[in-house]
Amino acid sequence: MKNAYECSKKGAEIPSLLNATSEELVSGLSDSRFTSVDLVVACLKRIEDVNSALNAVMEINPDAISIAAGLDDERARAPFTGFLSFSKATSAPLTSLSSGSYALLNAKLRADSSIAEKLRAHGLIILGKTSLSEWSMLRSTNSTKSWNAISGQSYAAYYPKQCPGGSSGGNATAVDLGLAWAAIGTETSGSIVSPCDRNNIVGIKTTVGLTSRYMVVPVSEHQDTVGPMARTVEDAARLLEVISGPDPMDAYTLSSPLSQIPKYSSFCRLDGLHGKRIGIARNVLDAEADLVKHILPAFEEATALMSGAGATIIDNADFTTYAAWKVRPCNLVTRADFASNISQFFANLEHNPHQICDLAGLREFTRSCAAEEYPQRNTHSWDVALDQELHNQRPNFAKHYQENLLFGGEGGVLGALERHQLDAIVLPTTIAFEIPALVGSPIITVPLGAAGAETLVKHLAGWDIADLAPGIPFGISFLGRKWSEEVLIEIAYAFEQMHEVQGKLERAMKTPEPDLVNVVHSGKVPLDE
Ligand SMILES: *[C@@H]1O[C@H](CO)[C@@H](O)[C@H](O)[C@H]1NC(C)=O
Ligand SMILES: *[C@@H]1O[C@H](CO)[C@@H](O)[C@H](O)[C@H]1NC(C)=O
Ligand SMILES: *[C@@H]1O[C@H](CO)[C@@H](O)[C@H](O)[C@H]1NC(C)=O
Ligand SMILES: *[C@@H]1O[C@H](CO)[C@@H](O)[C@H](O)[C@H]1NC(C)=O
Repeated sequence: MKNAYECSKKGAEIPSLLNATSEELVSGLSDSRFTSVDLVVACLKRIEDVNSALNAVMEINPDAISIAAGLDDERARAPFTGFLSFSKATSAPLTSLSSGSYALLNAKLRADSSIAEKLRAHGLIILGKTSLSEWSMLRSTNSTKSWNAISGQSYAAYYPKQCPGGSSGGNATAVDLGLAWAAIGTETSGSIVSPCDRNNIVGIKTTVGLTSRYMVVPVSEHQDTVGPMARTVEDAARLLEVISGPDPMDAYTLSSPLSQIPKYSSFCRLDGLHGKRIGIARNVLDAEADLVKHILPAFEEATALMSGAGATIIDNADFTTYAAWKVRPCNLVTRADFASNISQFFANLEHNPHQICDLAGLREFTRSCAAEEYPQRNTHSWDVALDQELHNQRPNFAKHYQENLLFGGEGGVLGALERHQLDAIVLPTTIAFEIPALVGSPIITVPLGAAGAETLVKHLAGWDIADLAPGIPFGISFLGRKWSEEVLIEIAYAFEQMHEVQGKLERAMKTPEPDLVNVVHSGKVPLDE
């Protein structure tokens, strides 16, 4: 009897990985209620339990358990002072990488990414790599989000065959289901915030230059940025503290005006909305009425809540060139950047399995490799770049780039913030990210709600993948000035605390059953395998 009592008492102190916060994990490790190895083993069992249905995880770090054992030893020898020391999945490539493409399968980088180094230096365990849209969506115009040739299609958990968004789809699903504490994503246009939107989690798309892209598979040097994906604003803020900061290997990070990186988590304040001026880009909502019909009631309720918490809401903080932006054919900047920089990336490989050295070679390989599913999934983004001989060092590039700066700046988010003296613009996440992408300004998305029972199911055209259906989550985004992440965190935290959705929505797919408590109680059994 005594034993059973102790057991349940102990169990109560062991957080579920489905919703464990960094605070709970760190305190459990420091008073030895569980070990880093327990955490990794539990995460791996959870992955094993759901991955055949959802395909969220592409690759497990074969060293994860031994790294965890090393951290446990360190803790046993010295007082535990580390800030974070547990498991996570990350985008930051290990020195092997693939971007989901057979062109890079078994390729090896000359060096680790700066982000991966920072994670390790903080005692974070890189648990593995998650599924993503191949080449972060910059290959095909008729592929599906979060499909790649290596791991196939991945799905989110709220509806059968739910599109997880892209391109960091697996990353977001893994965080939502507690397969890892948090994940890293990269965003060129929507790749962090869109999957967070569909998976009911928090994501921060950082100002371009706040985090280093060194050794991250590139899309666009003008738009790419690395950011945290987590279940709470506070945890996302903590992870942001770990990964931010200048890096001599990425020139964009050296142009940061910040003399030091703010302690982002200290901006998680309950009164964070008080006195803030928040604008609604009404003309964007109107132009995208079809996409946000099912979100609008929750959105209007949310802005009323913000006003109740002391924010001033300014309607009609419009993006003045939005209509003109919408009718232009495609973003030539990202395509030109990819065409230019992918060669450098190949040149940085220590092992380049197919000796591909540029975009033309990559297209040829991709078209001839059956698993890449060409032509059903085309190579249109690359075709445009090759046909138009796009390059970011050619004279005509400046024109395209200046046009983007106008659409995103004066005519977009930055102009609206200035004209109305706002701290942030608020929009449903699904329509929030394309304009900030053009100028490299930050976004934070937090859970808002889910499509109602009356929602008609909409599939991705031509595919058995549900894009909209009852129960599929949606988020709300705050868009700010460059380098204003701490302001967005203040606002988002206060809103999240008033309007808690994480963990409250019903999933159609089963949540992973194995948990930390089972591992701790069963002793240190190794994984079956
Ligand atoms: C966390 O998840 C577990 C299920 O694994 C649940 O029993 C518990 O109520 C959740 N806790 C919170 C605070 O939501
Ligand atoms: C999502 O995770 C994978 C691997 O963990 C990573 O390669 C990728 O950078 C992340 N997201 C995106 C959009 O790249
Ligand atoms: C991308 O290419 C430009 C010039 O083409 C170069 O200046 C820049 O350093 C490259 N960036 C990366 C990340 O390789
Ligand atoms: C994708 O585009 C290619 C080439 O344009 C076409 O052959 C293929 O049928 C398309 N696939 C889908 C699913 O639309």
